[in-house]
Amino acid sequence: MFFEPSTRTRLSFETSMKRLGGNCIGLGDTAACSVAKGESIADTAKMIEGYSDAIVIRHPLEGVSKFLTDIVDVPVINAGDGAGQHPTQTLLDLYTIKKHFGRIDGLNIALIGDLKYGRTVHSLSYGLGYYDVKMTFVSPDELRMPEETLHDLEENNIKYKETNNLKDVIDEVDVLYVTRIQKERFPDVEEYEQIKDAYLINRELIEGKELIVMHPLPRVNEIDYDVDNTKYNKYFEQANNAVPVRMAILKNIIKHRCK
Ligand code: NCD
Repeated sequence: MFFEPSTRTRLSFETSMKRLGGNCIGLGDTAACSVAKGESIADTAKMIEGYSDAIVIRHPLEGVSKFLTDIVDVPVINAGDGAGQHPTQTLLDLYTIKKHFGRIDGLNIALIGDLKYGRTVHSLSYGLGYYDVKMTFVSPDELRMPEETLHDLEENNIKYKETNNLKDVIDEVDVLYVTRIQKERFPDVEEYEQIKDAYLINRELIEGKELIVMHPLPRVNEIDYDVDNTKYNKYFEQANNAVPVRMAILKNIIKHRCK
């Protein structure tokens, strides 16, 4: 049930399900579904429950996937709820880091860009909190990590630093996790225009350093194309890793239902 644009998440979930020998149905263009006639998301999910063994949902409303778990009996996977969370992205991000370094503990990781509205970094900061890492949040003041997320991290004794200057961390990080400024979430488009090019990672900035560049994609103007053909580029492999990771997620979630 994809109510927001998606390329990687939707197609990798579909690929994963098919590679496991299963099948997928989808709402397709939601303007052509009964939600456009005013059907509630709860009723739509109730129908889809009868046609499927699991629901993957992406929706602009925060908390909608959690809400649906009270409505349907099939497992519900959050594929992005507004500016909330994107937990399966975190699993493939952690997988990518672990595959590259052979470990996650001991690494120095900077999350950069739109930390306010970016759901991938909200989930990733929680995910990294399970490891012994150094986390730095790099963003313009207006796009800092939400207080609620910082509070959760502090409650769990997870240490982090904040800065708006990429130069503060560039020499010491192992992972630069870059994110898109989430234009669609800004209440005021002028604010977006002022902030949209806050950080640009290019070859010159990272040349000679021992780090990898990750990005959940799509990129707009955060990573120069001149990084693509360098050893620093991990973002395409990261996107490809979505398939084995989502196969594992689906298999684990569905196996109990398909004896
Ligand atoms: C992200 C998302 O949808 O939150 N993309 C993804 O799922 N790989 C990042 C973004 O849209 O900026």
